[in-house]
Amino acid sequence: MIVGAAAGRLAGIATARRNRMRVGILGSGLMGSKLGTIWARAGHDVVFSYSRSRKTLERLARDAQGSARAGTPREAVEGADAVLLAVHWSQLDNVLAQAGDLAGEVVLTCSLPMNADNSEFVIAHTSSGAEELARKAAGARVVAAFNTVPSEAFFNVFAAREGEPRPSLLSCGDDTGAKEIATALIRDVGYEPVDVGALRMSRFLEPFAMVVARIAYEGEGGPEVVYRFERCGRSS
Ligand SMILES: NC(=O)c1ccc[n+]([C@@H]2O[C@H](COP(=O)([O-])OP(=O)(O)OC[C@H]3O[C@@H](n4cnc5c(N)ncnc54)[C@H](OP(=O)(O)O)[C@@H]3O)[C@@H](O)[C@H]2O)c1
Repeated sequence: MIVGAAAGRLAGIATARRNRMRVGILGSGLMGSKLGTIWARAGHDVVFSYSRSRKTLERLARDAQGSARAGTPREAVEGADAVLLAVHWSQLDNVLAQAGDLAGEVVLTCSLPMNADNSEFVIAHTSSGAEELARKAAGARVVAAFNTVPSEAFFNVFAAREGEPRPSLLSCGDDTGAKEIATALIRDVGYEPVDVGALRMSRFLEPFAMVVARIAYEGEGGPEVVYRFERCGRSS
């Protein structure tokens, strides 16, 4: 039998899945601005945060053409059903300090553990950025998602979201409820979610994300190749 706070939390998750969600964006650059805009247009309440320019956040909220506003990282987290972490790895400690306590929060991270010039991972093989985030933000319900896609893909995928087949998007995490919320948000962007397992799978997802980026930016016909990971070998 599920009682008290646990029952309330499960009910909350079910409600969040059915209704619009409050989504906080920590890092409103290429990834955060596009995903936040899409979620606002998909009917969610979005708070854009973490930029050196308050005007940028206000412009994003205005241009989102949905329910969106600018806020501080702490305001983005307060009352959120999910938070997107989309900052350069070098800013991780700074944004976490500004966001405050993330215990119990659903945190989708697309941040990759890259060095300053984005040429190498600073964490790899025996751990991953997503696992390091889970250690730093104690109690956060971390899901790694969206890091395998160049941000240029998002608006096209959203525009084509009613079509079939939908491109796949890989994610992983340890918390079932958090993954359900992530799944809903991944679907709202226009992807078919593919849960590849526990958070430790991000040790493989993160290098995969780099392969995707290399193909996209350096390969011939890259964007057409990498923007659609369609499921193969399935007959309907
Ligand atoms: N871009 C992609 O296609 C892609 C794909 C997969 C994964 N990723 C990963 O996703 C993460 C985010 O990437 P991104 O391309 O979205 O980064 P980005 O465009 O550089 O955005 C980073 C955000 O952090 C803010 N910021 C940086 N320093 C700050 C400071 N000192 N104080 C306050 N705000 C600050 C920036 O604000 P302002 O610049 O407005 O001040 C911006 O909103 C990275 O870890 C990246 O590796 C990116």
